[in-house]
Amino acid sequence: MLTKRFFNYIYEVFFSFLLVVHWLFKFITSLFYKFFDRIIILSFIVFVCFSSLFSLQVVEKNADPEEVLLSFLRRKVGLTGTKYGCGGGGCGACTVMVSTYDRNQRTVVHYTVIACLQPIVTLHGAAVVTVEGIGSTKTKLHPVQERIAKAHGSQCGFCTPGMVMSMYTLLRNKPQPTMEDIREALGGNLCRCTGYRPIIDGFKTFCESESSGCCQNGRAGGECCLENGAKGSKTNNSKESDISQELFPMDCFLPLDPSQDLIFPPELMIMEKKVSGDALYFQGERVNLVAPFKLSHLLELKAEHPSAPLIVGNTTIGPKMLLKGVYHPLVIYAGRISELKAVTWGETGLTVGAACSLSTLQKEVEKVVVETEEEKTRGYRALLQTLRCLAGKQIRNMAVGSSGSLYCRSQDLFDFLSVCPQTEAENICNVVFLCLSSDGMRSIPLDEKLFADFGKTVLRPEEVLLSIDIPYTKPWEFVAAYRQAQRREFAFSFLNAGMKVAIKEGTDVVESLSIYYGGVGPTLVKPKLTCQQLVSRSWGEDLLSEGCRLLKEDVDVSPSIHGGRAEFRKTLAISFFFKFYMQVVLEMRERVGKLRIMNADFPLEYLSALKPFKNEVPQGQQSFQLVSEAQPSADLVGRPSMHQSAFQQATGEAKYYDDLPLVQGELFIFMVTSTRAHAKIINIDPSEALKMPGMVTFVSAGDVPGANCRLWFNNPEELFVVCVGQIIGAVVAESREQARRAAKEVHVTYHDLQPVFFTIEDAIRHESYFEPKRKVERGDVDEALKTAEHILEDEIYMGGQEHFYMETQGVIAVPKGEHEEMDLFVATQHAAFTQELVGMALGVDSNKITCHVKRLGGGFGGKVMKIASLSAITAVAAHKTGRAVRCCLERGDDMLITSGRHPFLGKYKVGYNNDGTIVAADITYYSNGGSTLDESAFVTVLHMDNGYKIPNLRGRGVVCKTYLPSYTAFRGFGGPQGLMVMESVLHEVAVRCGLPAEKVRDINMYREEQSYTHHKQPFNPTDMVRCWDECLERANYQDRLRAVQLFNSSNRWKKRGISAVPQKFGVGFSKGFCNQGAALVNIYKDGSVLVTHGGTEMGQGINTKAIQIASRVLKVPVSSIFTKETCTGNVPNAAPSAASFGTDAVGMAVKDACEKLMRRLQPLMEKNPQNTWKQWVNEAFFQKTSLSATGFFMGPPTDVDWEKGEGQAYYYFTFGACCSEVEIDCLTGDHKVFFSLFKIPKKHITSKVEGGFVQGVGLYTIEELQFSPDGVLMTRGPSQYKVPALCDVPAELNVHLLANAENPHAIYLSKGIGEPPVFFGSTIFFAIKAAIAAARTERGLGDAFPLSSPATAEKIRMACQDEFTKMASPPTDGAMAPWCLDV
Ligand SMILES: Cc1cc2nc3c(=O)[nH]c(=O)nc-3n(C[C@H](O)[C@H](O)[C@H](O)COP(=O)(O)OP(=O)(O)OC[C@H]3O[C@@H](n4cnc5c(N)ncnc54)[C@H](O)[C@@H]3O)c2cc1C
Ligand code: FES
Ligand code: FES
Repeated sequence: MLTKRFFNYIYEVFFSFLLVVHWLFKFITSLFYKFFDRIIILSFIVFVCFSSLFSLQVVEKNADPEEVLLSFLRRKVGLTGTKYGCGGGGCGACTVMVSTYDRNQRTVVHYTVIACLQPIVTLHGAAVVTVEGIGSTKTKLHPVQERIAKAHGSQCGFCTPGMVMSMYTLLRNKPQPTMEDIREALGGNLCRCTGYRPIIDGFKTFCESESSGCCQNGRAGGECCLENGAKGSKTNNSKESDISQELFPMDCFLPLDPSQDLIFPPELMIMEKKVSGDALYFQGERVNLVAPFKLSHLLELKAEHPSAPLIVGNTTIGPKMLLKGVYHPLVIYAGRISELKAVTWGETGLTVGAACSLSTLQKEVEKVVVETEEEKTRGYRALLQTLRCLAGKQIRNMAVGSSGSLYCRSQDLFDFLSVCPQTEAENICNVVFLCLSSDGMRSIPLDEKLFADFGKTVLRPEEVLLSIDIPYTKPWEFVAAYRQAQRREFAFSFLNAGMKVAIKEGTDVVESLSIYYGGVGPTLVKPKLTCQQLVSRSWGEDLLSEGCRLLKEDVDVSPSIHGGRAEFRKTLAISFFFKFYMQVVLEMRERVGKLRIMNADFPLEYLSALKPFKNEVPQGQQSFQLVSEAQPSADLVGRPSMHQSAFQQATGEAKYYDDLPLVQGELFIFMVTSTRAHAKIINIDPSEALKMPGMVTFVSAGDVPGANCRLWFNNPEELFVVCVGQIIGAVVAESREQARRAAKEVHVTYHDLQPVFFTIEDAIRHESYFEPKRKVERGDVDEALKTAEHILEDEIYMGGQEHFYMETQGVIAVPKGEHEEMDLFVATQHAAFTQELVGMALGVDSNKITCHVKRLGGGFGGKVMKIASLSAITAVAAHKTGRAVRCCLERGDDMLITSGRHPFLGKYKVGYNNDGTIVAADITYYSNGGSTLDESAFVTVLHMDNGYKIPNLRGRGVVCKTYLPSYTAFRGFGGPQGLMVMESVLHEVAVRCGLPAEKVRDINMYREEQSYTHHKQPFNPTDMVRCWDECLERANYQDRLRAVQLFNSSNRWKKRGISAVPQKFGVGFSKGFCNQGAALVNIYKDGSVLVTHGGTEMGQGINTKAIQIASRVLKVPVSSIFTKETCTGNVPNAAPSAASFGTDAVGMAVKDACEKLMRRLQPLMEKNPQNTWKQWVNEAFFQKTSLSATGFFMGPPTDVDWEKGEGQAYYYFTFGACCSEVEIDCLTGDHKVFFSLFKIPKKHITSKVEGGFVQGVGLYTIEELQFSPDGVLMTRGPSQYKVPALCDVPAELNVHLLANAENPHAIYLSKGIGEPPVFFGSTIFFAIKAAIAAARTERGLGDAFPLSSPATAEKIRMACQDEFTKMASPPTDGAMAPWCLDV
């Protein structure tokens, strides 16, 4: 006792000492940094954001319960490094580290959170570390920031701060993490640019593991690459040749020194230790929040305010309040009550407090499964399997599983629910929830009776959950959990299941069986009949078939089930049971050993069905050709160079449009969009909205002072809407929140019109097309079809794709107050077009409108056209109010309004011979253009021949006009769809001929040096053939194919497939006038150089390249050259940065400008060769020589004569080849890509190649946009629309750049490779198709079958027809409207 008091005393003294030191530190720093100027002395909430030199203590007096950390940091504290990507927890861009002092454990805990869902009031007493806090370019970078930047892990940089913070937090907790730790830490962070591999490459240098190749300053023993300059093992230069694998040097990394990390503020520690039992009360503008400290107080509050929701992680309530407008005047925060946070292990098992996070639960369970015998922890293992896939790390750190989710998500989808009932010990369902109210305590078993209906439980409103008991399993109990989602991790499941069987000891007789499904009904479903009828039966084949038969009747998935996929869900329900059956057989066999008490058995080739796919950290090789040894080391052209702004991006210093500080008097605009697909607007009534607080004005067609020519507010006379999501008007308010709320109060009266249709098929029926239609023809298709040995007529549908750039679209319009001048800070790929449209809308000349583009957080073609309309609307609002107006689309609105890649339907008739030669092909491409033409006419048939010389080839391009938001440009611009149809033709011909697909591809390929495309453009396919041959060779294609066949013959429920495709891709615009580039280069008297050009930096590294070019021509180091922004005032009339041509065009223009300057300086250089650059520049100034030059590049006169269907459509062609191997789970539809390799000609590698490929992986496998039968886009955020996460990257991804591939057309032998890699994702589609074919062949079904893109889990599973798919009867008798349409 005395000792304890003594230690407590020492403890107090120690922290008081720390406090003194801390304040002293603050005082000293204040002398230098005016620290105290930055303290806002208010009351109530205290938290601390660190900057790398000093901490910023924030005391917010008026903490609003509705304010989340993200907006607080960005707008109130001014820390804009933390980014907004989705606002709903689904992207990780807003990740920060929160540190709190845990009173019970007397330790500081660090964990990541999603700032967009974390209410600030729940952070009272917490320290928040943002990306700015760990390092900066002005002081010192943190090693995490340095390594992601140097490893090329930052392209557009928008995801980078979130990635950095996830990794930083991991290192705070574990300075030497494993690769698995990194995988887990980054699982909740999305990146749309890099393909993740470069990020992993940078971060794995922190690992101790052998595969990382870094020993962290010799701590692992042995020679250290960080100290002695040796290279990391993976990136060693090849001694034998000029081929290198070293993408970044490992010898100049800052070592990680955990002792340099800032300490947790002692005052917070003391504050937490001294915390009184008082509740905290926060009063906001509309919402109040109480955070009780005592359980009794919580119960009182609940009794008094039963309808007030409790929150802990806010990951369920938050999105509803923030994104869906659900209003709760009072919210109770339960996260301060220690009873709810307790975790205890008793004799029977685990008791988790209702406010324990999913991460805490996961950690506890992980510990116990290692320490406890296997048979007791079967339930925990099943739970763990589910927990590891559930959401991302940040969400698991915040969210509670036991209570929060149960209450709010007492519906089908919450994974935790189906698995939990299986962990009971004695009787069915004695996993219990302890519920408290002022009337006392009761325990409720967790079973299907807990749920009254969708979103409702039997818990009374005044009741509070205290804890959940999850007992050990018994020796003869077998438990499993299953789930299948669109993406293996970080995605809600379509169906999840928990199953448990208790077997009578020493027998194989079922004592009890419980099965729970989430995803087959409105709440958790138990198939009672099945569970009852199988009791007392032997666990054998009869039980299996009877079980499946019973489930067929028992599991009633309504065809109208929320989310659709009824047939798939039912198939999964039965397939999961089959898996469970086999798993139990296996485990029982292990348990009973040789006793042979059981008769159940199954063939060995069934075994693989039991192994779930393991998520691995992607590994791979990248090789490229080194520049010539003669090239000076300062000349970076052709060398892998870090992105010019990578350090700024990694430290959060890089500014995007929405990071710019508020302009005095700034307003916010929020779009009001149509909710009808085709209607006449009878009336727009903004009167209610105008009464809302903060509302300034409503703008609509009548407010456009200039021409409303792009109809951004519909036709002013006849107000028609032609799609859901069309902008009708916009509200302008003092703040974003006010504008968002007011927009909901604008009432629009419509008169619905006919016809209304959305799909390509319907457009064909209505003959609804845009002009012009395109046709290209080579040879005589009709005649050739008559001579072919076989004819195949078929079609393939390919769904569209959302750009999902991490930064949503937006603009700030700032009226200058004189001469109608206006500045726009805008996220556009085409500043000149935005300038032009804004000028037209305002009726003002372009010379008074200036667009500034610093950088974009990704574009991919989506920020060319639509952003101009948004800018015009925002400019109209700024003009009307005379104040600056900011528009920043929320993710859901961005997806709704701006649309994406065109869906395609390719219908074809092909003539082919037995040897696989294709003699003729007639293909019609129908694209869904949506309601307006936008850029759809450019999406053409020009890419259709890919690398194949089909002598008689006809392509027709038809753009269908439907009542959907207008589709627009997207990376590849019709290429990925056009090429896909041709590859489908090749694939199907190979299947029909019984030949390997790669052989059919091979024999149809262009080979002659002087070849001609179907539109008669000459080209040399040698590099394509080289890529193809080298790709197959490097991939050991034939060996792999044999291994795949062997695997397939010995595995019944898992199948593999392999596929390779070549590619020919045209670079440049087929509209010749777009192929131009312009630049302005200024040299200043101090010798520094400013390069400005017409391109847009969106992650592709256009500025980095421009600087390298200027450096080479001017012969000055890159450190003396700078690019500031793209500005229409500096470089006018610039072409869009698109078509993989921006860097080529701009690079040429920069070169031209620099050469002009060099010509002017040449006489001075020759006269005084001994002088320095600065001296020459000075001399030029005194001699009145202009040190400013414009550069111009007049690109090739590409054009297509559409009458003849021929012409020079592209500047040049890029070639490549890719091979992928996949494995599918025939029972669930899950797939895993474990190998991809591609070969592409390029001088040096950037992560752009892999980024494009991974975007293609998404396009062809998981990215699925869903439209309701009323034409409403339902997938409006990362929760519903899945782009590839880290778990989707091939386990082994190899990229080899073709050596000695020259390109005389582009600047310094570069190659346009921004777009082509997207198409390589199709190799995964075709490999999946081959794997499905193997499954079907084995079941005696045909290997020719339809499969549309993307090849989702649902499509894979349903194509692998078997006895279980037959049991899942069709969901509809035809009367039911489908859940969604293939548009
Ligand atoms: C991006 C994202 C991805 C996700 N992915 C998945 C996934 O893959 N699988 C999955 O299953 N789930 C997923 N979820 C859901 C997530 O698991 C739940 O949102 C979370 O568990 C809810 O916990 P919370 O503490 O944040 O809830 P809160 O929003 O804080 O509260 C939820 C509800 O619980 C009630 N409540 C809280 N505590 C108590 C108590 N002690 N007594 C009574 N009622 C209480 C509240 O009143 C409220 O109704 C995801 C969520 C997000 C945001
Ligand atoms: S912005 Fe917070 S997770 Fe996307
Ligand atoms: S660098 Fe990751 S989203 Fe752009």
